[in-house]
Amino acid sequence: MVLLTTQRLKLREFKLTDWPDVYAYESDPAVARYLAYSASSPHECQSNLDFLVEHQHEQQRLIFHLAVVLAREKHLIGTCGLQITNRAVGEAELGYALHSAYWGHGYMSEAAQAMVNYGFKTLQLRRIFGTCVPDNAASIRVMQKIGMQEEGHLRENKFIKGQVCDSLFFAILKREWKQ
Ligand SMILES: CC(C)(COP(=O)(O)OP(=O)(O)OC[C@H]1O[C@@H](n2cnc3c(N)ncnc32)[C@H](O)[C@@H]1OP(=O)(O)O)[C@@H](O)C(=O)NCCC(=O)NCCS
Repeated sequence: MVLLTTQRLKLREFKLTDWPDVYAYESDPAVARYLAYSASSPHECQSNLDFLVEHQHEQQRLIFHLAVVLAREKHLIGTCGLQITNRAVGEAELGYALHSAYWGHGYMSEAAQAMVNYGFKTLQLRRIFGTCVPDNAASIRVMQKIGMQEEGHLRENKFIKGQVCDSLFFAILKREWKQ
């Protein structure tokens, strides 16, 4: 089981009882507009958490999606995680979302940096990438702040909330990573 700590946050495994907090940020319209996936009902949110919790015990674990919790208040405010996309290469995708009430305090940059450190140090990844739509300035900034470089702009390759969108790709290699 994974547990990461930063100055202000704890990144811990999800529990089934977390669903109301997860649903709170997934159903937050400011968050959901940027996500390819977000639960459309509490029931859907609960079954996704079932899957995540079950997957935590897989021997060949691919998904490391963690709950982002304020260390002092112990309040779950978002998620940050890696999903291994190519084991042979050692590649994973970084993803994150935060309830909009907590935006702009540097929380996700702090969480994403911890996740990247975990990916390179513990999972021994070679490359971590992230994607977002071109108008998602906050997400672009988070990826830049953790040392990712822009690798490309893919046209009309994503379907988000009923719309086909472009996406930007950012990545960092282990040899570029400074702890
Ligand atoms: C992306 C997200 C996780 C960022 O969380 P956060 O904790 O507010 O991020 P941080 O505070 O660590 O960093 C955000 C940076 O973006 C900047 N930023 C935010 N909005 C911006 C805007 N509209 N234009 C330019 N920069 C912006 C902030 O100033 C900050 O940069 P700085 O530290 O250099 O000032 C949050 O906005 C979110 O959950 N968005 C919706 C879900 C999402 O987009 N997920 C990613 C899908 S690809």
